[in-house]
Amino acid sequence: MSLFRHSCAVAVSVGAFIAASAAAETVTPVCDGWLFHRGDVVGAESASFDVKDWTPVDIPHDWAIAGPFHRTNDLQNARVLQDGQIDPLAISGRTGALPWTGVGWYRGTFEVPDGVGFAALKFDGAMAGAQVWIDGEKSGERPYGYIPFYVPAPTNAGRHTVAVRLENLPMSTRWYAGAGIYRPVRLVTGPSLGLAADGTFVRTSSLAKDGTARVVVSEKVRGASREIPKKDLTLAWRIIGPDGRVMATGPEVFVSTSGEATGVLTVKSAPLWSVQNPVLCRLCLELKLRGVVVDSRETRFGIRTVELRPEGFCVNGKPVVFNGVCLHHDLGSIGAAFNASAFRRQLRMLREMGANAIRTSHNPPAPDAMAICDEEGFLVMAEAFDMWKTPKVKRGYSLVFDEWWERDLAALVELYRNHPSIVMWSIGNEIWEVDARDTTKYAYLMADMCRRLDPTRPVTQGVDRPGEGAANGYYQILDIPGVNYRVFAYGQALSAARYGLAVGSETASTVSSRGVYKFPVVPGRGGKQADGSWLDGPMHPDGQCSSYDVECCNWANLPDADFAAQEANPGMIGQFVWTGFDYLGEPTPYKVFWPSRSSYFGIIDLAGIPKDRYWLYRSQWRKDVPTLHVLPHWTWPGRKGEVTPVYCYTSYSSAELFVNGKSMGRREKTKASELDRYRLRWNDVAYEPGEIKVVAYDASGRAVEEKMVRTAGTFARLVVEPEPVGRPDLDAAYPYPLLRYFRVKAVDAKGVLCPDCDLPVSVRVSGGKFRGICNGDATSLEVFTEPRMRLFHGELVVTVECVAGGTEDVLRVSADVVR
Ligand code: GAL
Repeated sequence: MSLFRHSCAVAVSVGAFIAASAAAETVTPVCDGWLFHRGDVVGAESASFDVKDWTPVDIPHDWAIAGPFHRTNDLQNARVLQDGQIDPLAISGRTGALPWTGVGWYRGTFEVPDGVGFAALKFDGAMAGAQVWIDGEKSGERPYGYIPFYVPAPTNAGRHTVAVRLENLPMSTRWYAGAGIYRPVRLVTGPSLGLAADGTFVRTSSLAKDGTARVVVSEKVRGASREIPKKDLTLAWRIIGPDGRVMATGPEVFVSTSGEATGVLTVKSAPLWSVQNPVLCRLCLELKLRGVVVDSRETRFGIRTVELRPEGFCVNGKPVVFNGVCLHHDLGSIGAAFNASAFRRQLRMLREMGANAIRTSHNPPAPDAMAICDEEGFLVMAEAFDMWKTPKVKRGYSLVFDEWWERDLAALVELYRNHPSIVMWSIGNEIWEVDARDTTKYAYLMADMCRRLDPTRPVTQGVDRPGEGAANGYYQILDIPGVNYRVFAYGQALSAARYGLAVGSETASTVSSRGVYKFPVVPGRGGKQADGSWLDGPMHPDGQCSSYDVECCNWANLPDADFAAQEANPGMIGQFVWTGFDYLGEPTPYKVFWPSRSSYFGIIDLAGIPKDRYWLYRSQWRKDVPTLHVLPHWTWPGRKGEVTPVYCYTSYSSAELFVNGKSMGRREKTKASELDRYRLRWNDVAYEPGEIKVVAYDASGRAVEEKMVRTAGTFARLVVEPEPVGRPDLDAAYPYPLLRYFRVKAVDAKGVLCPDCDLPVSVRVSGGKFRGICNGDATSLEVFTEPRMRLFHGELVVTVECVAGGTEDVLRVSADVVR
């Protein structure tokens, strides 16, 4: 596993009570050379099974992302209580309209080296209902597709086979869950007397004013027993700083006969992990038997504290405000298959917008995603469940809740708690019965479990009925009450909060489609219509939402209301916008509209292209650089003379608009209306082709920056622009192909984007491998895995896999219009 680097293997003779082996822990990805079969097969678990028709695949793999899309894929006849829906509806596209339900089998092999006393396969996540056989023997199972799990493996040297059966049930999720072994598998081996797999817990217990940190380490040891005298088994530890220097060495401690050891290390002038400077250290452990090292491990971690103080949520003693977004786990055109470059790209865009936090809605994330958040300095609310006992969908987690919740929640805390990025645990999202006795009981049990396994992080939950949560004591169970939407209830949540702090665990649910602007511009939120029908949000005949950012869901609000509520309630530690990126499934408000198969909530679309809202958040969240953005585009053939409002998202307090050089007046941000508090709007502009320009003024009235948008001429050519290179140096440490992204744009002869161009395009990749294509159109049924697609509002994004040995210079992407 990438978090660990493994030092020397030490062979020693340790006496009769220890199995013959004593190699130090090794962690090896088992990601290549798998075979896949879609559909159930009798006997596929047997060691001698004939795999001749199976398809070679690499892990991570998402069997459904290649499509095709179809309305009948997991068409859900359901009544969504949370949305206020009155009658059951045939909800299409709710889980992405991709063929992810049903059974899939995987078979692979792995090599156990000589002389190990312990071996296990670690699955970072398999979607879903995993059953695992090794050499034909049933070795493990895990229903919950999001949680990492270990399966014991044989310790005899040589090649072994692993067979995995997965089954995804229809109506088991509210979004696209993906399908398959969509996260890595790793073989963990070590000595029989050794450091237990994932048995290290390292945390900062205090940070003194002079910069001295106390780092507490607990370790579990496998194979300890009464037969080994306590004084014979010891643990030595030291902390290595980011520059490779030893920062602290702990006194060697005895390991108890039950296999436990705890120690405290003092680090002077500790290099602190923070959002601004995510410095990582390494904890080096050596397990010694009578002074001889029998096992060793390095664990990457960050020195930082988290405290709830009257002044706010403090990291290293300083209050932070969460400018956060909720993220589902799919990664656009590559689906649920986790990839380091793809996830880091998301973080890069979010960081550029000023975001500093993510909520892993509504499930345990890929462990490597957390490692990347550690590297990038993101704060994480790691969430366990979307439902407990009461189902939100017919065959969801509630079916296995009783049997599995304790193991799943314990795994979330125990397997992820060394990540400095994770700063709070969420035990659930919109758990339906906030007031039922049963739920209260589970909330207690879960919060308790989190605190017992990790006394350093607060516990929260996304609650959609904050009024009840505040009134009936439910909020008192949590350290930080979470409020989903309902900004009007922030005050109630805060007054019920144990520490006087609460969080906007889910906010906005504003909907928009990149490049789409609807006229007239009418703010709307759906709800009960005059004819008695119910709308989740405003709908348009083309299945798109307006990028004037004035449309939201009935239960939600516009970003402006969240900014204002945050200002009015200093105890709110910040918000997590629903969502940072569009995701597959949940095409609200077009639940029953076909075709529509992915969300409109994203600040950034499914392809990874920012929508206008990106700059609205940026104008509030980035304090270090100014923001000046104008919308809409200015190419409206047929709208000459018609009212075409112009909005400006800016960090400046005022600006003036010019249409073809003529001033349309100056606007100032004002608290007089919700929509003029954080945006500048010119609502009466009559469209005429040419150019619009906004000139921004600073507080002293000086013109300081301007932005221009021009009318595009006819389409002239396609341009292919590579996105900034991410961090291939860091990504290379993970078991995933390196990815690069290329934006294809339709432009006129002068290079102006043709904002309504929807020409079909084919792409060619050389020096790399085509991996995916996406245009961000929620209504498109073109597959992501063929190198052709229509542009959506003039743009699309191509994902390319770097081939071994390939470099930046050899990678080429070209695009042609399909005539
Ligand atoms: C919330 C829910 C999210 C998503 C969102 C859409 O109530 O927690 O998962 O469904 O609504 O607005």
